[in-house]
Amino acid sequence: MFGLSAQDLSGRILDCAAGPASFNAEMTTEGQSAVSCDPLYRFTAREIRDRNEETYEVELAGAGGLRARCVWKDIESPARLGETRMRAIRRFLDDFPRGFREGRYRPDGLPMLSFGYDTFGLALCSHFLFTYSEQLSADLHLAAIEEVCRVAGETRVFPLLNYDGEPSPHLPPTLNELSAREYRDETRLVPYQFQKGGNRVLCVEAPRG
Ligand SMILES: C[S@@+](CC[C@H](N)C(=O)[O-])C[C@H]1O[C@@H](n2cnc3c(N)ncnc32)[C@H](O)[C@@H]1O
Repeated sequence: MFGLSAQDLSGRILDCAAGPASFNAEMTTEGQSAVSCDPLYRFTAREIRDRNEETYEVELAGAGGLRARCVWKDIESPARLGETRMRAIRRFLDDFPRGFREGRYRPDGLPMLSFGYDTFGLALCSHFLFTYSEQLSADLHLAAIEEVCRVAGETRVFPLLNYDGEPSPHLPPTLNELSAREYRDETRLVPYQFQKGGNRVLCVEAPRG
């Protein structure tokens, strides 16, 4: 979903709003460097597991609406989606206690991160900005992207649709304001598409110098 190259993966990566996902565990197994942050990480592994079981039931109940809005190709059905997610969550839960001690999981929340300038080569943010366009203001989107760009050389945000699969109303004003502030931004097509039309990633770099 982020169009990652081998070179992208070889640097230090921040996964922002990372959730209970297996990316950090997989990167660590491969000997790569990743830090994940999410306010969720203030909870213990057991608490995260219990919270997840509650929301999983709610999400399964809503899978009827999900079916029409998504491309069921790589993931063939809502049931398969559930299995894939549960595998990723189990991998995360197994890795979380050790990763937390090692500082690979940090309870930071946007728009304020505790990392120094340019700590990472690349930062990724999936299914948070633009996805929650109803709950998060345009100002929050701008502040969050600026903050992630402060700590990483390049920031990639995916997808650019809201939760209902519509183009986010915050995208045009955010891009206008980033340009006005001399950030470099580019929207790229990626091969991954789960939400219909959700195959674009926003790549942003802060002005240098
Ligand atoms: C839908 S999940 C996405 C998880 C993962 N990135 C993915 O694509 O599967 C959204 C995540 O945003 C996190 N979140 C909520 N408020 C946040 C904030 N202010 N800053 C960063 N993450 C936040 C939630 O805890 C949740 O894990």
